[in-house]
Amino acid sequence: MHTYRLKQRQGEDNKIQETLKRNGNIPIHIAAIMDGNGRWAKKRGLPRIAGHKEGVESVRDIVEACGQLGIKYLTLYAFSTENWKRPKYEVSMLMRLLMRALRDETEKLLKKNVRVQAIGDIGTLPNQVQEELFYAIEKTKSNTGLVLILALSYSGRWEITNAIKLISSAVKHGELEPENISDRTVEQYLSTKGIPDPDLLIRTSGEFRISNFLLWQLAYSEIHISEILWPDFRRKQLYEVIADFQKRERRFGLVSEQLTSSK
Ligand code: FPP
Repeated sequence: MHTYRLKQRQGEDNKIQETLKRNGNIPIHIAAIMDGNGRWAKKRGLPRIAGHKEGVESVRDIVEACGQLGIKYLTLYAFSTENWKRPKYEVSMLMRLLMRALRDETEKLLKKNVRVQAIGDIGTLPNQVQEELFYAIEKTKSNTGLVLILALSYSGRWEITNAIKLISSAVKHGELEPENISDRTVEQYLSTKGIPDPDLLIRTSGEFRISNFLLWQLAYSEIHISEILWPDFRRKQLYEVIADFQKRERRFGLVSEQLTSSK
């Protein structure tokens, strides 16, 4: 792009970001279900994997914009437990894409002060993906900016079942009394331990489903369903979603008056 045009665009981008920051109430944690890659490709007569590839471009743009906005956590549903049931070819292409994205992006993420983390049944991923993932996690562990959490071979039910196993084992070994188990205890056994619950869940491509994502953690999250397919979901769309979030009143089960009186 022409340098002048690029500078102009960056200037406009900065202005929008400043406005959002001035409005206050930037979400601390955004979670996203990146849906619609296949449909994006189909609409163009391309193979599904072309949609996933373009989806990686969206990931890049959204990660950068979240970092600039001062969002602290971004959790992306990159591969669900159920995704293993897709045709073998698509699974292996997705794994290859993931491996390549991690390999290509780690240095850039390091420079942008992004810290990579992962949740899910990581041991079920191909060895090479695990290696790239652990390398990215290790390399970026001292970064203090955005925490990018990749949900891989993840599902909410898997995570809760896993927590139940761990809690039962702690009870069995006398480390935990059943009457002392609270929701705080459960949180300690989830893979998101130490990470605040998402303030905002974004799902692209117009589907009204949670699809086994962060079932425990989404209890009070604001949900935004965007009609845009993930490969077309870039920072401009993210800014619109955040502006909408800023207009919402989060009551956490209370009534409006209680919130204003506690301010
Ligand atoms: C859903 O679209 C998308 C996925 C199952 C995979 C998402 C993965 C990426 C965008 C790559 C991730 C890369 C990094 C670096 C995190 P779909 O295939 O279900 O689309 P459809 O509903 O239109 O068929």
